[in-house]
Amino acid sequence: MSTVYTIERFILEQQPDYARGEFTNLLYDIALSAKIIASKTNKAGLVQILGEAGGTNIQGEDQQKLDVYADSIIMRMCDHTGRLCAMASEEQEEFITIPDRFKKGNYVLVYDPLDGSSNIDVNVSIGTIFGIFRCVDWNLRGRVEDILQPGRKMVAAGYVLYGSSTMLVYSTGQGVHGFTLNPELGEFLLSHPHMRLPEPPAYYSVNGSYFHRWSPGTQKYLRWLQGEIEEETPNLSSRYIGSLVADFHRNILRGGVFAYPAETLKPEGKLRLLYEAAPLAYLIQQAGGHASDGVRPILDIEPQEIHQRTPLFIGNSRLVQKAEQFIREEG
Ligand code: AHG
Ligand code: MN
Ligand code: MN
Repeated sequence: MSTVYTIERFILEQQPDYARGEFTNLLYDIALSAKIIASKTNKAGLVQILGEAGGTNIQGEDQQKLDVYADSIIMRMCDHTGRLCAMASEEQEEFITIPDRFKKGNYVLVYDPLDGSSNIDVNVSIGTIFGIFRCVDWNLRGRVEDILQPGRKMVAAGYVLYGSSTMLVYSTGQGVHGFTLNPELGEFLLSHPHMRLPEPPAYYSVNGSYFHRWSPGTQKYLRWLQGEIEEETPNLSSRYIGSLVADFHRNILRGGVFAYPAETLKPEGKLRLLYEAAPLAYLIQQAGGHASDGVRPILDIEPQEIHQRTPLFIGNSRLVQKAEQFIREEG
């Protein structure tokens, strides 16, 4: 019988000998949060979890009930465990400190509790994105300096995809590994070890309805992706789901590029650096690809504020570098 690798066993086997288990236990906490959120998303149509929560988040976006629910699950699973010194969530304006009554830990968790909210009510895949840093100063309780770290400083990143099956994909810097939830067992089992971007890539993912608001270089890039410009034309098909996690997951498995460029109404792009772009940039680098804002690597960008947005080009390196070339040449 082939080895059945639960995520717990896999994490433990990847844990370096000197580790004390704090980091490992944080990954367990995230996996448990994912199971709880998955149990709600899989029957979202049946329980009163659909629709708008009636509030708006810091982004000014209408919060879906599932946004708020997922945010509260992750925060409550992680705020008292003694693993963290601070957290930051897409759904909360300020960063989250650990209440004084709880022991403080040495890691920082940044997360988008529910990505692809616009797809919840139409039964299209949605996800959770997370990144983990070390606290900057282990002697102090969480400060904003612990949150505003560049992706290069991440020690782990991953996402959960609530789709035809629930998957948890993560990396601690030793490759990207995917686990599929077996609902009967309630266990994440290793299903996609050592995920690497395949060549040649198969897809490009972009919302072309913004074309008229892009820069000339970005417009030229889309035409290149579509094979209109004879210059090592890629032979790609178009897929765009509107859930970053779902588009990213398909592209990491089949090869491709996802782009959410800047445009006249969103000069900084739409996606958030800290808990969307940077964690996925960490993963794509581990899978042999690249992520850029069109000018520089996403992982090098020093966040100035928690909800800072960034343009994003992420996927097979050659496809991303081509975006940088056209933007460099044409603006
Ligand atoms: P979130 O639901 O966390 O706000 O993220 C939505 C994001 C991302 O998932 C997706 O790629 C993008 O919004 C889609 O934006 P457009 O509808 O403008 O294409
Ligand atoms: Mn999101
Ligand atoms: Mn979200």
